[in-house]
Amino acid sequence: MSHDSRSDLPGPGDLLGRARELQPDLVDLRRRIHREPELGLENPETRSKILAGLEGLDLDIHLHEKSSGIVAVLRGDRPGRRILLRADTDALPMPEETDLPFRSERKDRMHACGHDAHTAMLAGAARILSEHRCGLAGEVVFMFQPGEETYGGAAVMLEEGMSEVDAAFAMHVSPLIPTGRIGTKPGPFMASYDDFTIEILGRGGHASMPHDCIDPVPIAAGIIQALQAFVTREIPATDPGVLTVTRVEGGTANNVIADSVTLAGTMRAMSDRTRAILIEGLSRIVKGIAGSHRASARIDLVPGYPVVVNDADFEAFSRTVIEDLFGARGVVALPTPIMGAEDFAYVLERTPGAMVLLGVRPPGTKNPAPCHSSRMILDEEALPLGAALHAAIATRFLSGSSGFLPSGPRTTGAS
Ligand code: NI
Repeated sequence: MSHDSRSDLPGPGDLLGRARELQPDLVDLRRRIHREPELGLENPETRSKILAGLEGLDLDIHLHEKSSGIVAVLRGDRPGRRILLRADTDALPMPEETDLPFRSERKDRMHACGHDAHTAMLAGAARILSEHRCGLAGEVVFMFQPGEETYGGAAVMLEEGMSEVDAAFAMHVSPLIPTGRIGTKPGPFMASYDDFTIEILGRGGHASMPHDCIDPVPIAAGIIQALQAFVTREIPATDPGVLTVTRVEGGTANNVIADSVTLAGTMRAMSDRTRAILIEGLSRIVKGIAGSHRASARIDLVPGYPVVVNDADFEAFSRTVIEDLFGARGVVALPTPIMGAEDFAYVLERTPGAMVLLGVRPPGTKNPAPCHSSRMILDEEALPLGAALHAAIATRFLSGSSGFLPSGPRTTGAS
């Protein structure tokens, strides 16, 4: 056991050992949440399960009202810095097709993104850190956040009010990374997303007399092609963006020209700059092409999440913590960012910090089903590892020996 010599703080071995002792509790909480998945911003049953998991701990608990969010604050025995640890709690609207004994009992509801595991690991970290409250200088803010899947729950909680913190940390499971290893990367980590629906308004009529109509079908085809050319010609190859049209809808019969065609899709970017180019270009190309063919277009843009950007200094700090816990092999330096999106981006917009990927790929699995697959599974041996990592990040940060100093007075919103 390696106690931190600078204080009474537990060392990596203590944290891992305690987390392993707690494994049955973590597994139990995870499975109970997994059985009864909830969607969106209201996760009341999940909230009750989390609160039961935190019972008896010396925490200041605030229940949010605009969502089922929970903010639990652990105060050390002397003043110091504050760190936020976050888990998301919601599931996806999809059927589960695993044969797990604890599979979803709700129709078309599945924890296919591992948020059940995130929640259990954070509750475990709260228990471990509570046991070492006396060694801590400062505060740990535990953020249990619903509505990650397209509801922007993190923004909803920040808006309702969160304490100011000096740093923030979160992890997301990855069935593609083996258990015991952690994927990390400084800078842009996950993409922004923005969804769009376009209605091309022409004038319908008889299919044999297109000259008397404004046919929206070839216009839609031209727009789809032009949008792809736009991405290759205007988005810098060094700062990528993706624009995908996922839905084309229009027309009723072989001999009828439709009045309108609807296109829908999504855009992803790794920087605010490319995100802005995509948004501006989409509107310009769609309106320009529709107009050049005498049609008009209505564009409904639904802004999604910003880019998840890992603070370089905090990411370097978390890398050292990962190495201490799991050895040098524990770190997987991700060569590229991930094109998926995450609303932890809102927290990292206001506070320096990092998100990492926790390996949950069971040993011997050849083709693991990824997150958002109806067959997604995860290795529960990773649960104590995640709980220990949360706890280690917080203890090291609050011990003042992190080497990480916040670069400026960024905060997570007004309290
Ligand atoms: Ni997720």
